Amino acid sequence: MSAAREHFGSRLGFILAAAGSAVGIGNLVSFPVAATKSGGGAFLLVYALFVFLICLPVMMAELALGRKSDKDPVGAYRQLSGGSTLWRIPGWFALITPYMIAVFYMVVTVWVLGYLVETLKGNLDVLATESYFGTFINSKVVFLYLIVLMLLINGVLSLGVKDGIERAAKTLMPMLFVLLLGLVVFVLTREGAGTGLSYYLIPDFSKLDAEVVSKAMSQAFFSLSLGMGIMITYGSYMKKRDSIPGSAKAVALTDTMVAFTAGLLILPSVFHFNPNIDPSTLSDSSAGMIFLFLPKIFLSLQDGIGYFGASAVAAIFFFLVFVAALTSLVSIIEVPIASLRDERGMSRKKAIYTVAASQFILAVLCAMSFGMADWLTQFVKLAGSDKSFFDLVEILFYDTILPLNGLLVCLFVIYKWKRANFDRELQEGDSGFAGTLSQKYVNFSLGTFIPFILLIIFINTVALKFF
Ligand code: PFF
Repeated sequence: MSAAREHFGSRLGFILAAAGSAVGIGNLVSFPVAATKSGGGAFLLVYALFVFLICLPVMMAELALGRKSDKDPVGAYRQLSGGSTLWRIPGWFALITPYMIAVFYMVVTVWVLGYLVETLKGNLDVLATESYFGTFINSKVVFLYLIVLMLLINGVLSLGVKDGIERAAKTLMPMLFVLLLGLVVFVLTREGAGTGLSYYLIPDFSKLDAEVVSKAMSQAFFSLSLGMGIMITYGSYMKKRDSIPGSAKAVALTDTMVAFTAGLLILPSVFHFNPNIDPSTLSDSSAGMIFLFLPKIFLSLQDGIGYFGASAVAAIFFFLVFVAALTSLVSIIEVPIASLRDERGMSRKKAIYTVAASQFILAVLCAMSFGMADWLTQFVKLAGSDKSFFDLVEILFYDTILPLNGLLVCLFVIYKWKRANFDRELQEGDSGFAGTLSQKYVNFSLGTFIPFILLIIFINTVALKFF
């Protein structure tokens, strides 16, 4: 077995590492895309409500599970359930889910890296052509970028919790905040930015229907890195003297601020260059925004600031998305590594090799499912249409199992591990939390309507995606 468990060095270190996990493609792209399509500020309001009223208690529950047990998700469920066989299942789900989400997220991150490199090589004009994306994702160079990405992630992970994950977050996150703010200032000072801004900030409640509300909920849940075993694992690296409620609030606030700020960047850009755009015509996917729409927008900046200036802005943006995705991937891949170490007694190095080798193969299969291999492109038929291997991984793990994992965390903490134990763990490092309104709310909501909402999302997704 490994020696004493590693811990984050400081509270700030933990907050930045957890924010590094939470801030990802979800914040910088998926959130602004969803806001653009779904009533701007109205979506923002619903989203913020979900973050603080629904997701924050779940985050506290996950952190408490990890910190109390000092274990990876599998070990946490085993230990705190007193060895129950049934409650082993959510532990395994909380291990397989991050393992598989990492695979499809890596492929998208590889594309971002490719776009960053091409921009730096001076090829922004090529990226902005209609056919480039399709050609790029089916070219062999994708595999080279995958190797580079995996070396970077595993290089950070090999240095451990404090010297690897925490140090990377402490360097990269402040840089990300500064660059993001710089880009926002630049975009907001462009002529015509006001149209996008008013669309974003003046809520249009007529756009809010059941689908939009459910989208906001899933988006908030994914954005905070919940249901992926990440917060359980990071909780196990937290010090006892640190406050779980306080740290969770700081992470949720940072994550939401970044999503809000990214909206200030993307929405004005969309409207500045297409003042008459009908947002509903925009593609739903983040990939559509990053790889098809934004390169054209960046290129059109050349009229004002020249080709070099436009390329610089594009490079900063792709770099931002890449850094955000990298710190998210570090956190998600730490979950299976922690499991192999805790459950199998492997050294960090051996665990890294095992996870990286198997994930590489799966990521290659995902990358090949956009046309390189027909059997991967038409892997299964779901809800009457062909789905690729990549689609299947996304539908199974991101759309479906994620809310299920959240539901299981709530039920486990309140009804199996028990409220009193959970309360005690939250008060460890935060004695003032006891008896507050927040404490009562967290306790009540986790045992009642939060699991109910997650159950509805789960059932709805199964009905929609599989039948
Ligand atoms: N919070 C991340 C995001 O918003 O993009 C979610 C995530 C995805 C975390 C993938 C980690 C990861 F590997």
